[in-house]
Amino acid sequence: MEIRIARPNDLEPCINLNKALYGKGKWPEFLRQRIEDTRMYVTEHEGRVVGFIAFETNFIGCLFISLLSVHAELRRKGIARRMIEKVAAHSKNGKLFSSTEEDNEISIKMHEALGFRRSGYIDNLPQPRREIIYYRDVPLQTDLTMLFSVFPESREQESSRRSI
Ligand SMILES: CC(C)(COP(=O)(O)OP(=O)(O)OC[C@H]1O[C@@H](n2cnc3c(N)ncnc32)[C@H](O)[C@@H]1OP(=O)(O)O)[C@@H](O)C(=O)NCCC(=O)NCCS
Repeated sequence: MEIRIARPNDLEPCINLNKALYGKGKWPEFLRQRIEDTRMYVTEHEGRVVGFIAFETNFIGCLFISLLSVHAELRRKGIARRMIEKVAAHSKNGKLFSSTEEDNEISIKMHEALGFRRSGYIDNLPQPRREIIYYRDVPLQTDLTMLFSVFPESREQESSRRSI
């Protein structure tokens, strides 16, 4: 199984995967745009696209998962978990937001299992149900190489700490 940035020829399989869940509507154009902007990952398994995740980088200045889908036959194998980690790595401020409709029990379970907490909701959307907003902290990677170039003595401290 491989998770990679979506390419133009992933559009068709992603549309089909999505159609099974949400019908036709606005989604083909939405997906095409995310692929063009490299704001989408796909999971490929035995030559087939079996999941995708689309994200926004400016949801009130934060990273936001806008669409997530895994093929029904390959659920509960950690595909969503791994794709969410790929997206989380794009966070520049240690924050990751996501959302789901209030009656999507599986998605709610998944968000809670993956460490998301509720962070309000949105009413008055075109959909009939309320959208729950989820939030998760993302530990930011400390760039040790950069740190050592500024404070060379910290390299010695770090290597003596590791050898203890
Ligand atoms: C929600 C969805 C993306 C989850 O994908 P997935 O690849 O099956 O999820 P994972 O295998 O990574 O699950 C991660 C954890 O979430 C929880 N979880 C996922 N599916 C669950 C289910 N059906 N019941 C209970 N808990 C579930 C579990 O804790 C799971 O960890 P575990 O299997 O080690 O116990 C998938 O069910 C899906 O595509 N659903 C339809 C589209 C949708 O609702 N998208 C989300 C809207 S934002």
